[in-house]
Amino acid sequence: MTDPLRLGIAGLGTVGTGVVRIIRQKANLLAERAGRPVQITAVSARSRGKERGVNLSDYAWEDDPVALAQRDDVDVFVELMGGHDGPAKHATEAAIAAGKDVVTANKALLAHHGHALALAAEDAGRVIRFEAAVAGGIPVVKALTEGLAGNDMTRVMGVMNGTCNYILTRMQSAGLPYDEVFQEASDLGYLEADPQLDVGGIDAAHKLALLSAIAFGTQVDFGSVDIEGIGAITIEDINHAADMGFRIKLLGVAQMTGRGLEQRMTPCLVPASSPLGQLEGGTNMVVLEGDNVEQIVLRGPGAGMGPTASAVMGDVMDIARGFRIPVFGRPAASLERSKPAAAGTPAPYYLRMSLEDKPGALAKVATALGEAGISIDRMRQYDHAGPDAPVLIVTHKAGRDDLARALDVIPRLGVVTGAPIALRIENV
Ligand code: HSE
Repeated sequence: MTDPLRLGIAGLGTVGTGVVRIIRQKANLLAERAGRPVQITAVSARSRGKERGVNLSDYAWEDDPVALAQRDDVDVFVELMGGHDGPAKHATEAAIAAGKDVVTANKALLAHHGHALALAAEDAGRVIRFEAAVAGGIPVVKALTEGLAGNDMTRVMGVMNGTCNYILTRMQSAGLPYDEVFQEASDLGYLEADPQLDVGGIDAAHKLALLSAIAFGTQVDFGSVDIEGIGAITIEDINHAADMGFRIKLLGVAQMTGRGLEQRMTPCLVPASSPLGQLEGGTNMVVLEGDNVEQIVLRGPGAGMGPTASAVMGDVMDIARGFRIPVFGRPAASLERSKPAAAGTPAPYYLRMSLEDKPGALAKVATALGEAGISIDRMRQYDHAGPDAPVLIVTHKAGRDDLARALDVIPRLGVVTGAPIALRIENV
């Protein structure tokens, strides 16, 4: 095949501009590698007049991304607009209906509508590729669908939101409270337009749901991801966790258990010496575990123009070379509906509470834990600077229901000030 592969790019923000740059700067290299030219024929964005630092004069302009998706001179619709409904969804559906392949960086769209879109694309003999939607420049979708295709995957984990990792590591290194670092991240332009997507764990949960579908052969089930953001993490938690040999990360974990598929994106403690524990700043890390490969760790930039455009181009090049696989690595029609696990796999927990300085206070807490069936592994109490003192407890493995029972009882013992904090400890 020597005909050019013709792209229509919808969305000329950071990523779209990055893709245009790569195609303009590396035309020869891409043509050699693909065995055919890779060209842009048309583009679309909200504002035509905006200065983007790239020359768009060679390309046709469409105000409407649906019209772009339907153009006869477009083979691949490259969707870089974002948003899980509205124009991105309409244009992607239009592209599939018009017989185009799709490359997208849109995690939200696929987390919400991935299964329906995959069914439609595969019915029409089209592919949807989405490497850039998960962990920016890290080729994790490729690793899972291709490199690890000979494994039964057992667990997928990852720090997949660079902004949250930046905030948590900056709090620790600068000793600053959450609100101050959140403002810093905002000033640096790290936050999504809706910051809750980042700090609420939603963006990372979108990504986890996509990896989970590939790893476990289930329909994307974003609605069943147990999500908790980082907004309640205090500098005290970070410091105390460090004292006990841990780091706090917004960690995604997906695993198939006898009780069903467990998917969670929550702040967790991980050993400070583990690769995840050592991950600093805005970098992402994905840990993939399979029965044959055992464990592999992928680390790299999770956002930004170059890394994300690099991932888009990997998908474009696969299509240019004629490499076609089902959207989630096996035919969408064969993907089972996921059965969400009713309760989380038992894990050790880190508990922090403020204990009043009275005789028997600690004994009451220990008894409440014991009565809930929770055994204490380690404990540390700090000085009484005031009327109460922080107490940290690391438990042995405990079930979520047992923990919930203990957390319900402890505030009513009359010896604890405020609500206890509980964070899961993940063995990574
Ligand atoms: N806002 C994301 C992050 C990048 O901070 O990692 C896009 O998903």
